[in-house]
Amino acid sequence: MLAPGFALGLVLPLLLWVGIHSGVGFHFASYFDSYMVLQKEPAGAVIWGYGIPGAMVTVTLFHDEKAIMTKVTSVKAPSHVWMVILDPMKPGGPYELVAHQTLGIMRFTLKIHDILFGDVWLCSGQSNMQMTVLQIFNATEEMSNTEAYQSVRLLSISLVQSEKELEDLDEVDLEWSKPTSGNLGHGNFTYMSALCWLFGRYLYETLKYPIGLISSSWGGTPIEAWSSPRSLRTCGVYLTRGFPESVTGPRNHSVLWNAMIHPLHTMTLKGVIWYQGESNMDYYRDKYNCTFPALIEDWRQTFHDGSQGQTERFFPFGFVQLSSYLSPEISDERFPEIRWHQTADFGFVPNTVMRNTFMAVTMDLGDRDSPFGSIHPRDKQTVAYRLHLGARAVAYGETDVIFQGPLPDKLELLSRGGLLNITYNRHIQIYLQKLSNRTFEMACCVEHRCKWLPAVMKVFSSHILTLDVLSCTATVAALRYAWSTWPCEYKQCPLYDYHTKLPAPPFTSFIID
Ligand SMILES: *[C@@H]1O[C@H](CO)[C@@H](O)[C@H](O)[C@H]1NC(C)=O
Ligand SMILES: *[C@@H]1O[C@H](CO)[C@@H](O)[C@H](O)[C@H]1NC(C)=O
Ligand SMILES: *[C@@H]1O[C@H](CO)[C@@H](O)[C@H](O)[C@H]1NC(C)=O
Ligand SMILES: *[C@@H]1O[C@H](CO)[C@@H](O)[C@H](O)[C@H]1NC(C)=O
Ligand SMILES: *[C@@H]1O[C@H](CO)[C@@H](O)[C@H](O)[C@H]1NC(C)=O
Ligand SMILES: *[C@@H]1O[C@H](CO)[C@@H](O)[C@H](O)[C@H]1NC(C)=O
Repeated sequence: MLAPGFALGLVLPLLLWVGIHSGVGFHFASYFDSYMVLQKEPAGAVIWGYGIPGAMVTVTLFHDEKAIMTKVTSVKAPSHVWMVILDPMKPGGPYELVAHQTLGIMRFTLKIHDILFGDVWLCSGQSNMQMTVLQIFNATEEMSNTEAYQSVRLLSISLVQSEKELEDLDEVDLEWSKPTSGNLGHGNFTYMSALCWLFGRYLYETLKYPIGLISSSWGGTPIEAWSSPRSLRTCGVYLTRGFPESVTGPRNHSVLWNAMIHPLHTMTLKGVIWYQGESNMDYYRDKYNCTFPALIEDWRQTFHDGSQGQTERFFPFGFVQLSSYLSPEISDERFPEIRWHQTADFGFVPNTVMRNTFMAVTMDLGDRDSPFGSIHPRDKQTVAYRLHLGARAVAYGETDVIFQGPLPDKLELLSRGGLLNITYNRHIQIYLQKLSNRTFEMACCVEHRCKWLPAVMKVFSSHILTLDVLSCTATVAALRYAWSTWPCEYKQCPLYDYHTKLPAPPFTSFIID
């Protein structure tokens, strides 16, 4: 029999050789890096990486060179993955994170520094999420204004697609960084998302603790690319041969979910914001009222499970309702339909299908002269501001923050006089000169044949608006508001909340007599 020492001496170099030559050395997962923000209490941050199966891994958190927490685990086979969950941490920093891998007498060390604890938000979607600070209004001023926000940290994920779910990111465009004019204004539609940044900046101003922002978006992509096959199946969406449009590249179903979202599911997150929908104008538009809620549910379940329960099961999910663009077709209803479907056909969120969500209404932020086309409005500040109000109310429990525009509580056909009253839930501000024949429209129906006719406003009070429906001599079966691609000029829609100046969202509603 060989002496144990001799056996070890033989095995160790062998394991080491396997480790090095199979390309799975000791390292953190791609997105653990200096300057990062880890999710603060009450959740524990998941820390993970790769190593040599069987090796022991010790993760230690240091503050001012003092070890304040140590976690021990071992590298699993055959995945080569090690993973620990830190104890919940109060917001703040900076910390240093050190990981050791021990295999017999061999010891490998990884160190990352200037780590902060705070809230980590993931920002995803298509080009309106991708637009950088360079492309928005007041770009120069916004880019130079970063000094006060060094605790807001950025990570921007590369445009990668995959046929299979990846466990780790293939590539990042911008490693975890402090904000600078250079990384905020790197180029057009390349890191870092302006909306993500501005949202984080507003949150930081309120919360006064670190915010981590992860940007993962790709222009021109439909929701199907960001959805898992499981999630698409629940909506009956399949890649069918007969579909008029061939689905290739980053538009292919699930390819961005696989490569740009799934790798993050093991990370502890606070929430997600989303700006997408334009690309579904002509692609499974009628399914968006299913695919969007299904995506939210699937991301929530996957992130919760992936983080071993650290990311909240029903984490807050905020999104931007589509803005406006100059459609050549006057009666184009594709944008209004997507806006409606973005709310699962409720007209507002949160609702019973979309719990713990919040939405920024932006149909009044159209931008005729955008050098990037009117589909890319440049006022992202107002979008971020409205979205952060939703986050404060829904994600941070500030119950007195108003984040929704006025919503209709009641539609009443008055028996006499051909009038219809809409009762709003809040004090409304009406810009009379902005009313048009397309502001309110009624479905005038004979049997099941309906026509949309203008419903002209007669009078209004602080909460009630009275419309003239006399021009419909048949049955008024439905009413809709702001049902057009471009319902108004910049910040000049007809209806706002009197106090907050938040716009009333568009709606369409049946009238039950
Ligand atoms: C971004 O787009 C604008 C408008 O088209 C153009 O003037 C500018 O040169 C572009 N910047 C870069 C870095 O490509
Ligand atoms: C699109 O996705 C399907 C299913 O994953 C795959 O079979 C097909 O090869 C993909 N097409 C392209 C062009 O990537
Ligand atoms: C979604 O919208 C389509 C088309 O407008 C409609 O037929 C369908 O009933 C809606 N589905 C849900 C779940 O609301
Ligand atoms: C741009 O800056 C001007 C002057 O400070 C300000 O009035 C305007 O609201 C800013 N625009 C946006 C979209 O923030
Ligand atoms: C708006 O509708 C009213 C009533 O149907 C009609 O008299 C008026 O001409 C319309 N105005 C425009 C600008 O279309
Ligand atoms: C309808 O609204 C008007 C104000 O626009 C109000 O004076 C009137 O009482 C309302 N009628 C009913 C039945 O609520």
